[in-house]
Amino acid sequence: MKLINKLNIFLADQQIFYVKLHNLHWYLVGGSFFTLHAKFEELYNQTAGVVDDVAERILALGGKPVGSTKKALELTGVTELDDLKISGQEAIKVLLTDVKAFNEASKEIRSLAAEEGDGVTEDQFNNYVGAYEKLIWMLEAYLEK
Ligand SMILES: [Fe+2]
Repeated sequence: MKLINKLNIFLADQQIFYVKLHNLHWYLVGGSFFTLHAKFEELYNQTAGVVDDVAERILALGGKPVGSTKKALELTGVTELDDLKISGQEAIKVLLTDVKAFNEASKEIRSLAAEEGDGVTEDQFNNYVGAYEKLIWMLEAYLEK
């Protein structure tokens, strides 16, 4: 089923993104450390919620959610970071790229769900689109000079 495949790719992305946000939380350096260190913690906690909600939606639809990092790495489009110090500016740019991709994927899943008459998944991903659009605005505001 196409929708479940897309949901599993999205789930894999969120699983790897969860690790990536920890990398940013730990390797961040510079003047915005205290603000962004806390922000990245907030984001990885939110991401943990998304991981669980998407996996449980897949189960409710009769699918099998990706439950291993090995499989998640095969499916994800998220690029992991090296264990290297990163500035706030660079970290926000990295996040912006990922969040824009998640927003596009969420819109695609929302449309697929609508086509299949699955209003619950459509509603869930409509909420994600709203959250990603807000976050994109905030990340872009951070980068504005
Ligand atoms: Fe921490």
